[in-house]
Amino acid sequence: MPQNDRDAVKFAYWVPNVSGGLVISNIEQRTNHSAEYNRKLAQVAEQAGFDYALSQIRFTAGYGADEQHESVSFSHDLLAATKTLKVIAAILPGPWNPALAAKQLATISYLTNGRVAINLVSGWFRGEFHAIGEHWLDHDERYRRSEEFIRALRGIWTEESFTFRGDFYRFNQYSLKPKPPQPLPEIFQGGSSRAARDMASRVSDWYFTNGNTPAEIAKQVDDIQAKAKANSHSVKVGVNAFAIVRETEEEAKAVLAEIIAKANPEAVNAFGHEVKNAGKASPEGEGNWAKSSFDDLVQYNDGFRSNLIGTPQQVAERIVDLKRAGADLILLGFLHFQEEVEYFGKYVIPLVRELENAEAAAALAAE
Ligand SMILES: Cc1cc2nc3c(=O)[nH]c(=O)nc-3n(C[C@H](O)[C@H](O)[C@H](O)COP(=O)(O)O)c2cc1C
Repeated sequence: MPQNDRDAVKFAYWVPNVSGGLVISNIEQRTNHSAEYNRKLAQVAEQAGFDYALSQIRFTAGYGADEQHESVSFSHDLLAATKTLKVIAAILPGPWNPALAAKQLATISYLTNGRVAINLVSGWFRGEFHAIGEHWLDHDERYRRSEEFIRALRGIWTEESFTFRGDFYRFNQYSLKPKPPQPLPEIFQGGSSRAARDMASRVSDWYFTNGNTPAEIAKQVDDIQAKAKANSHSVKVGVNAFAIVRETEEEAKAVLAEIIAKANPEAVNAFGHEVKNAGKASPEGEGNWAKSSFDDLVQYNDGFRSNLIGTPQQVAERIVDLKRAGADLILLGFLHFQEEVEYFGKYVIPLVRELENAEAAAALAAE
């Protein structure tokens, strides 16, 4: 561990509660979305030194991911199967409103010793909203709604009598009892558009972004942290990556090549079509998937771009590079989750801690 545990980079994994794993490819994947598989995975991850698990919310497929278990109930099940792991449940404004989410999460937090967190997703999948009869808002309007959602959640959780007049939500002297235990569930959000960054710099505890190089991550972090400072707000950053760690770099690269060679082009292109409603639809045209190539889209959140593909030493060094760029947490997807999470905990995390310690010692010596 680095001298100060707070400085240790955190690790999270994607809960495969959706079928087909984390890549849109016909390559063999020893991952499945069953409860049994996921309970065991959560226990393995906890042992391996992972801090968080992130579950996904999807109401429909349309590009692969044919079956999708619901995120909040699935997260609760994983919390019941573990002791220290924190599980981040995804909540989608529209189907959820803040009154339900505040009540539901307060109870889960109470039942699990405060180990539940929230990923407030703003939505990118128009076909999904259409299928379930939800209004589809423009890109930046979705973030305006998400921000009101987060403000309402915090208000309900902390105020004795909560009154709120927003454009999307209204509360009248609402009193939630019991309140969730302190500290309150952490609030994560995803996205990298300007609206996503601005929201993070005002209200979120954590900002999750798609995979990218340390230089590109640093640009986002600099922007968010400068704005957060101006808003007297504190926010941490999580970066997505798809890890392929093997004994040799050649083996790891061969796995990546096979994933891409066996990609399902129809599903990748359908996904590529849907995500145009995200980053490219933002007024500034940036954000998630705005610059993704076909190969990038084979992994749902540009996870190959973070390049955690190589030997344990190479991957550990690149994680520390991402940390230097401002990442506080690395969110990981794997091909064969159970065995690769275990391997990652055994061979990569200890190397990351060594590098962090060496860096802390060097900084002390230079003082
Ligand atoms: C790490 C991460 C996890 C996400 N999880 C979900 C999810 O489970 N369900 C969902 O509909 N969207 C999810 N999203 C999508 C975001 O909430 C957001 O709608 C999208 O990234 C739009 O990005 P933009 O603002 O850059 O255009 C996730 C995004 C990230 C980066």
